[in-house]
Amino acid sequence: MSIALSRRTFAAGAALLPIACTSAGRSVMGGPGAASPLASPVNPLVKNRADAQIFQHTDGYYYMTGSVPEYDRLVLRRAKTLAGLTTAEERVLWHHEASGPLSGFIWAPEMHEIDGKWYMHFAAGPSGGGEDVFRIRTYAVQCDGPDPMTGTWSTLGEFKAPWDSFNLDSKVFVHRGQRYFTWAQREPGIETNSNLYIAKMTGPLTVGPATRLSVPTYDWEIRGFKVNEGAAVIEHAGKLFMTYSASATDDRYCLGLLSIDAEADLLVASNWTKSPVPVFQTCVETSVYGPGHNDFTLDEQGRPMLVYHGRDYKEIEGDPLFNPDRHTRVQRLYFSADGMPDFGVPVGNGPLPERFFNPAAKGAFLGNEGTRIVSGALPLAQTQIRSLPAEAGSVRLSPILLRDQVLSAGVDGRVGLAPFGQGGDGSDRFRRRTLAGGVVQFESIAQPGKGLAAIDGTVALAPLGEARTRWSVD
Ligand code: AHR
Repeated sequence: MSIALSRRTFAAGAALLPIACTSAGRSVMGGPGAASPLASPVNPLVKNRADAQIFQHTDGYYYMTGSVPEYDRLVLRRAKTLAGLTTAEERVLWHHEASGPLSGFIWAPEMHEIDGKWYMHFAAGPSGGGEDVFRIRTYAVQCDGPDPMTGTWSTLGEFKAPWDSFNLDSKVFVHRGQRYFTWAQREPGIETNSNLYIAKMTGPLTVGPATRLSVPTYDWEIRGFKVNEGAAVIEHAGKLFMTYSASATDDRYCLGLLSIDAEADLLVASNWTKSPVPVFQTCVETSVYGPGHNDFTLDEQGRPMLVYHGRDYKEIEGDPLFNPDRHTRVQRLYFSADGMPDFGVPVGNGPLPERFFNPAAKGAFLGNEGTRIVSGALPLAQTQIRSLPAEAGSVRLSPILLRDQVLSAGVDGRVGLAPFGQGGDGSDRFRRRTLAGGVVQFESIAQPGKGLAAIDGTVALAPLGEARTRWSVD
């Protein structure tokens, strides 16, 4: 295996790193959610869990699995809400074996219910050191009962891949009644670390003829390692979208996007279109580095959510693969008028942001343009506003791209930005009033009776009786 290209090969000495150095059921096909909105998730949703899979099962629970920093076990947690996953009890389903091909790294599990039985696919390698620890292949364990949290899990076997080579990051999904298996694999004769493949599933560990969907060739796909991995799918407005992760697992890790007509043959590579640019990547302003290995789910209101991991910081000592701080994060996934997903930026730590648009102002969004607060048609990330709890039930409003700034109303009623916590007179605090139909107003604490209003592209205080002070939440 060529050192330069080997995704996971490193000097034998490093391979002596102690092994303890130290995700079903369905892809998101849209559709109504079950529960009414509850507490907003707070990012990071779950610390030190990478490669997360989150899905809402028919039993009403959200299930979550993912890689643990020790790479030595398969874990599962569930909660009735997305936010509940943060503190949910986590169960260990299966530990890696004492020796043999499943005794080393355990990566990127995914749990799926297939024909009424629970399986968990994952990538595993042998222990023992040297290059052999990266002899990674895909396996599955199976549960002996209907409840994956209480059942007994046992090894089923190895995925029958087209080649006996490095393969990982499988994803099972059903599309138009057909179950598919996607995975990442190193293909003999192609000088990359991993490419993306898809095939129809014929059994929990078997597939039909495979199609190669993507090879890392763009500069943003080959930084550090030549990688396409971690595929996830979501259908929207007649198209099927497949995201995948590219490059090394440090701050250069990012998401790419493949798309196809939802009625087309998924196994014909030419039916897919590959974005020439990444769709989701490191954001210094929100301090999220190397976002990737994503999944999709729905929130309690049935709205698409992006699940991914990312670090809070850029600089990593040693091999990023052994840095434990890839935390699981979630955020709303929006779609543009043309039906394409708009990933925006990773929104950063804290409560999930919201978007506020004003029907009385032609749907103008509240947002920032540089360091100005404006109302109008703005790029997604400039419209995402975080409501921060403040004194006596009031809130401060902070644009995600200006994390240390909050909206502040001047004596003249004009609204701008001020450093967090300087508004001692209440000029940077608002009372959020919820009206019929989920419409909200933000009444100034400093100037009661007046609320944030969209006024000819700017934002200023206006009497609460005016329609331009009423904002719809997106
Ligand atoms: O997190 C372990 C492995 O590293 C995952 O399987 C892969 O997606 C990532 O690059």
